[in-house]
Amino acid sequence: MMDGMNRKILLASRPKGMPDESNFEMTHGPIPEIKEGEVLIKTLYLSVDPYMRGRMSDAKSYAEPYKVGEPFVGGIVGKVVESRNEKYKVGGYVEGRLDWAEYNVSDGRMIRRLNPELAPISTNLHVLGMPGLTAYFGLIYIGEPKEGETVVVSGASGAVGTIVGQIAKLKGCRVVGIAGGEDKCAFLTDELGFDAAINYKTTDNLRKAIAEVCPNGVDVYFDNVGGAISDAVMSLINFQARIVICGQISQYNLEKPELGPRVAGQLLTKSALMKGFIVTDYAKHNKEGLTELSQWIQEGKLQYRENIVEGFDQAVDAFLGLFRGDNIGKQLVKVADE
Ligand SMILES: NC(=O)c1ccc[n+]([C@@H]2O[C@H](COP(=O)([O-])OP(=O)(O)OC[C@H]3O[C@@H](n4cnc5c(N)ncnc54)[C@H](OP(=O)(O)O)[C@@H]3O)[C@@H](O)[C@H]2O)c1
Repeated sequence: MMDGMNRKILLASRPKGMPDESNFEMTHGPIPEIKEGEVLIKTLYLSVDPYMRGRMSDAKSYAEPYKVGEPFVGGIVGKVVESRNEKYKVGGYVEGRLDWAEYNVSDGRMIRRLNPELAPISTNLHVLGMPGLTAYFGLIYIGEPKEGETVVVSGASGAVGTIVGQIAKLKGCRVVGIAGGEDKCAFLTDELGFDAAINYKTTDNLRKAIAEVCPNGVDVYFDNVGGAISDAVMSLINFQARIVICGQISQYNLEKPELGPRVAGQLLTKSALMKGFIVTDYAKHNKEGLTELSQWIQEGKLQYRENIVEGFDQAVDAFLGLFRGDNIGKQLVKVADE
């Protein structure tokens, strides 16, 4: 048995509106012992993701709600520090949906081995993991971008949005990002090659601002945020536009649904497609997606940025920061050195 403490973060209560620190509780316990067939994983990086807000509520959804008094569960990259499972060697790196804890026990079924030579291991929580695949599947399979088309992406400077915009550029599209800050917009245009970026926090007339940078209208809208931003984009879609509903973060903390324009008429008269999806819908294409994404990274065609905070005790604040817009690129928590 390993000496030392294992801290865990539990859901203490279900939030009403925006969550805060009181909805979480940290516990201290011994590092667990493993049985035959199991491995002990030391957490190195922990991912904070907007979908976790949905699991804090008890409303029925695609992901089962977290239980009050039980650990938060999320994407973790860790190192195998003890093993009684021949598939996993001590010192190997793994990724999986695990408890928010400094150490986890796994029977090996819900984790995957990582190749640290492909890219830094933390990338398996974003560009070479769930958010990267989300961007790839949503854009390629639903957005179907064609050369010369205009693609607008909201939540553009985050984990998913940054990858969506860059893939759209690789496909020869004009790409416009919508994000909440001048620094975020400068990052999109100056470093990632977006054709234009709009700071929705300082733009009075969003529809006009989007129309100005989309002189040929909008062929693909990749929606990460919903709400008023999407209302503005929807009014500018072209004939046979594709609207990819990936996320609705502007709505996650609302206690009552917001009323907006009825979009059915717009979809009808533009013969447009609007489709929601969950990344796991496309699980049979995971290998294809990861192969493409890692190839683009190795060829230097796809960039990523990590916003890393240090320390397990910073995890809750990092998660809350997603709703304040603290991050540029993927928000991660570094829990321990490799
Ligand atoms: N369908 C799927 O399978 C799937 C998978 C992964 C993620 N998603 C969804 O994709 C979206 C992006 O996820 P991510 O992991 O890449 O997160 P992220 O974009 O890295 O982080 C969240 C960002 O959302 C923006 N935001 C927060 N509150 C907002 C508001 N009220 N209005 C507009 N923007 C707001 C903030 O940026 P600003 O500064 O720009 O406001 C913040 O930085 C989320 O909606 C998430 O739920 C869906």
